[in-house]
Amino acid sequence: MPEHTKIFAHRGSAGTHPENTMVSFEAALNAGADGLEFDVQLTKDQVPVVIHDETVNRTTNGKGWVKDLSYEELKTLDAGSWFDSTFSHATIPSLEELFQWASHNSMALNLELKSGLIRYQGIEKIVVDLIHTYHLEKRVIISSFNHYSLVEVHRLNPSIETAILFMEGLYEPWKYAKGIGASSLHCYLPVAVPELIQGAADAGTPVRPFTVNEEAHMRGLMRGGCAAIITDWPEKAVQIRSQT
Ligand code: G3P
Ligand code: CA
Repeated sequence: MPEHTKIFAHRGSAGTHPENTMVSFEAALNAGADGLEFDVQLTKDQVPVVIHDETVNRTTNGKGWVKDLSYEELKTLDAGSWFDSTFSHATIPSLEELFQWASHNSMALNLELKSGLIRYQGIEKIVVDLIHTYHLEKRVIISSFNHYSLVEVHRLNPSIETAILFMEGLYEPWKYAKGIGASSLHCYLPVAVPELIQGAADAGTPVRPFTVNEEAHMRGLMRGGCAAIITDWPEKAVQIRSQT
């Protein structure tokens, strides 16, 4: 096998735990994952919080847009029971809470800046400042489907790695990424074709496809020397890697 493929736990150990919660991140650490992938949005009072959707409706017992709730309001919500009643104590973590926890381990931190319907003005600076406060510049990889956001992160602090997120079969995306200051490719699994994996490897650009949950896909990408996979099932991926 070429280089050891890293395992990034998607929203934590999301296959077995409520996504984007501390219990899910802890499970990923215990599973032996090398890194975490998680999503960041801003509350009404500009606190960066870890949640995938722009509303709290799907993953908590509350309702409404993250941008319309204060951090204090959001912190009262149960972010675990939707997954299983045993997780009723889980809450939406602040990014700072996650960084404090991360200071006790050495996991890579793939922070996705969310940009769907909402464009959070100033989110890049808020996040980059917090990374600086916790001295995490060398451990964080910032990714986004909004590449303007990545350009802004790179302008604010070029020492933080940025990764383009994309869903389409782009031609030689490593060249485009380099042009905007990004140094890695986070692509949708179906577009992680051998030409892309090989071309990126030749260019020295890491590829980390998402979301890799099937055993056959895990094995194929590991054998192909993919830099990392982003998976909901880190425990399974660690086991497969040990046999591949
Ligand atoms: O970062 C990879 C992946 O998480 C992007 O899609 O919707 O799961 O945030 P999504
Ligand atoms: Ca994500």
